[in-house]
Amino acid sequence: MSRPFVKSLVNEASQTFRASGRFAYHYARGKLGYDSIFHELLRRGLLPEGGHYLDLGCGQGSLFAWLLAARRLHEQGHWPAGWTPPPVPRELRGVELMQRDVERAVRAFGPQHPVVRVEQGDMNTVDFGRPDAILILDALHYFSFEAQRAVLTRIRQALVPGGVFLTRIGDAGAGLTYRICNGVDRLVTYTRGHRLPRLYCRTLADWVTELQHLGFVVEAEPMSGRKPFANVMLVCRVPY
Ligand SMILES: C[S@@+](CC[C@H](N)C(=O)[O-])C[C@H]1O[C@@H](n2cnc3c(N)ncnc32)[C@H](O)[C@@H]1O
Repeated sequence: MSRPFVKSLVNEASQTFRASGRFAYHYARGKLGYDSIFHELLRRGLLPEGGHYLDLGCGQGSLFAWLLAARRLHEQGHWPAGWTPPPVPRELRGVELMQRDVERAVRAFGPQHPVVRVEQGDMNTVDFGRPDAILILDALHYFSFEAQRAVLTRIRQALVPGGVFLTRIGDAGAGLTYRICNGVDRLVTYTRGHRLPRLYCRTLADWVTELQHLGFVVEAEPMSGRKPFANVMLVCRVPY
């Protein structure tokens, strides 16, 4: 049973944000503890070899704290049987629009971290480099359909063969759970300091078609945990 392990991983990763203040620490605890996507990434070994990962809309960098904590626990001999060993991160680059989040990340990891680099920027315009994995967790629907296509096209071009694009979307075809999910999203975005956003959503079938059209091999998996949401994780692989 991996539940006690996940708890210790949440503790270990959240400690990273002690230096960034109470909000950052408790945000990390809540996010990493209650959002199943983080432990699913590890349990299923979804991040490819290579270790150059780019998180677009990374917030304060909770994912990076998670991956580094996973390595530490693994090196200390704590790792659940049946889970793929955690990847060795070589470059963890985050791009985040909100300066406040970037500052929390810099305080957490320090300005000269050997692996982590979180920068203020707009994913619609920054250069992606040549990473092994790109992630966008819960942010694509803030962009117009044209902007979504442009960013997805650039992601496909940037990834190495065998690379992966991991994203989570709300399935606009899912009825009530989708409407709940959308309402919560608009509220949270507003309280994080953005304007009340218009959201550009699609059905799961539309997302999959769009991504396949760009040349990804797509796998979809429900990813709402125990919440009444319509979230789906899309694992989009670039063929060799
Ligand atoms: C729902 S939050 C998720 C944050 C983070 N991925 C996490 O798991 O804690 C979406 C994030 O995307 C950021 N974002 C929105 N539009 C962006 C853009 N154009 N470029 C970079 N980041 C953006 C928001 O500021 C916010 O931090």
